[in-house]
Amino acid sequence: METNLANQFLAKRTNGIRSSVIREILKITVQDSEFLSFAGGLPNPNLLDQNLLLTATEETIRNYSRVALQYGDSTGYESLRKRIQSDFVDVPVQTNRIFITHGSQQGLDLLGKLFLDVNTNLLLEDPVYLGALQAFSPYRPNMIPLSMEFDGPNLVELEKILSMQKIHCFYTNPSYQNPSTVTWSLEKRKVVASLLDQYGVILFEDEAYKYLDFKGLVFPSISSFRERLDLTFVLGSFSKIISPGFRLGWVVVPELYQKIFTNAKQGNDLNTNQFSQVVMDILLSHLDWKEHLSKIQSYYMKQKEHLVELLKFHLPEVRFEEPKGGMFLWTEYPNVTEGDMMKGIMEKKVVMVPGNEFRLVSTESAFFRMNYSFLPNQEMEEGVKRIVSVYRDIIT
Ligand SMILES: Cc1ncc(COP(=O)(O)O)c(C=O)c1O
Repeated sequence: METNLANQFLAKRTNGIRSSVIREILKITVQDSEFLSFAGGLPNPNLLDQNLLLTATEETIRNYSRVALQYGDSTGYESLRKRIQSDFVDVPVQTNRIFITHGSQQGLDLLGKLFLDVNTNLLLEDPVYLGALQAFSPYRPNMIPLSMEFDGPNLVELEKILSMQKIHCFYTNPSYQNPSTVTWSLEKRKVVASLLDQYGVILFEDEAYKYLDFKGLVFPSISSFRERLDLTFVLGSFSKIISPGFRLGWVVVPELYQKIFTNAKQGNDLNTNQFSQVVMDILLSHLDWKEHLSKIQSYYMKQKEHLVELLKFHLPEVRFEEPKGGMFLWTEYPNVTEGDMMKGIMEKKVVMVPGNEFRLVSTESAFFRMNYSFLPNQEMEEGVKRIVSVYRDIIT
């Protein structure tokens, strides 16, 4: 009844709005602390030096309150934009092409708003980042899945898709992808850049996990190999390298679209949180970046190794590729369904995210995304044991 009543007034595009199982799960785990969660993509807050944060916040209030407590430029706080341009962007652009957004998630939504009409052909990785589906689906594009291999997309399939229909945009997350952790090889980055140039496709390149390689490797963006920079948007984020609490990310916008992007952003939020931007800028000016990153990278590597050891020991049937970075394991549980596993593990108060949430077309196989960046070791072990008991109950 309530839903019908709501539908009388809601815009048609709201039919496309997807829920996020991850957000629902997060809500449950916050409400009930007995839940052990492998579900979220939560960076570990203890990896940021709290004293430095205190210093940056204090300095903001003491010396920059006139700026920090005011509305700001819709494109972002100049000093932070310059820092992003010099330290985080590998395509040759001026500072005025960097837009600071409320997380890269806002960037995704704005790109959807600007480039997707009903039935616009949008190419997506399979599996794909769920938040991108949430951002794009309200615009009701025609979403086309592209099969992935361990080192990037299946190039034969990609070329076939590009030659058979006009693809308007391609969204990809090429390093330590969420959820599969697939990381594109250098070779595939170059080939795809040239194919996208050849077929005139807009690229939305999401670099959310770019700096989370366990050994400190940093892959160049696909965009850095493109000639058509007028068709290239690069999204970055401070969420996984500093903290998602700031809600700060950025989009590199081609000159051609700067004005329309500014106008769309103004309609959205006028400007990104000024206070947050100023604190971030000061924080970064004090941070020993190399040391900070290597702390994150080695911590995540240890956490990954712990989860891998636990699974290999307790549940050798589970299949996965060992990631080289990021914060997830993309696991396949043979001979069970995602539904049965989810029901069982929820009863045992442990959660992970079912793989079909990340797909345009559901598969029969049971995949789960398991996060290892958040749970401490003992709880991780307890969580795995609970999952094992559910799995064994189902298959016996
Ligand atoms: C691939 C990917 N892109 C974008 C985001 C959004 O990040 P944020 O809005 O915090 O910058 C996430 C968050 O988990 C992500 O995994």
